[in-house]
Amino acid sequence: TSTMRRLVIGNWKMNGSLAENGRLLSALLDQSGRAQDAELAVCVPYPYLAQAAQALDGHKAAIAWGAQDVSVHARGAFTGEVSADMLHDFGVRWVLAGHSERRAYHGESDELVALKAEVALAAGLAPVVCVGETLQQHQDGLAHEVIARQLGPVLALGAERLARLVVAYEPVWAIGTGQTATPEQAQEVHAFIRATLAAAGAAQVRLLYGGSVKPDNAAGLFAMEDIDGALVGGASLDADEFIAIAAA
Ligand code: G3P
Repeated sequence: TSTMRRLVIGNWKMNGSLAENGRLLSALLDQSGRAQDAELAVCVPYPYLAQAAQALDGHKAAIAWGAQDVSVHARGAFTGEVSADMLHDFGVRWVLAGHSERRAYHGESDELVALKAEVALAAGLAPVVCVGETLQQHQDGLAHEVIARQLGPVLALGAERLARLVVAYEPVWAIGTGQTATPEQAQEVHAFIRATLAAAGAAQVRLLYGGSVKPDNAAGLFAMEDIDGALVGGASLDADEFIAIAAA
């Protein structure tokens, strides 16, 4: 774990409602004092950005908010898309780029993901670039190769821009399955990602682990040298669990 503050980001995915979010956001604010050593954020569905901004603004030091995707286009005839400037307009700090669900269900390529990171950076947002191998790739021993390929176009952004983003390693086989990577398994891949970034002049990039992170496995993961925080799915929908992870 680097000298930078631990970063724990919740990815709500396509969950929530005005009523549920209201309760979750206020519970998170109530409890965030328990996780003062961590930097916290929640990535909410687009329609609820205004709600998150309103609830969390003024407490920004406690919990920042983010989006789960961004368009590569600046504005215009792109029905259904949301631009980086629009996200910035709502006080967004973080934006996920290339979550495995976007790659799998929306055919996002490595090049597109890097472009999303680039566009987000240009708008003053901090991208969380997600990488990770599938179960089949994992079993075939291809994790490093797959991740190197996913990171390729991102590394081309150059050291200065890399320094302003975060990389999340989310093995697809560990997402929503309850089957988390062991701390040692995760560390092994994080060390590889760290070395890859270091070769591009960006050794200080914070590396998050994601995939069935829960209060009872978080401390073991955070104890690893190259794990600087977590990207949390299911457990981020429960304030007690999310804060317990951040405080672990
Ligand atoms: O982005 C977070 C994620 O994909 C992990 O989800 O539910 O396994 O924590 P979960």
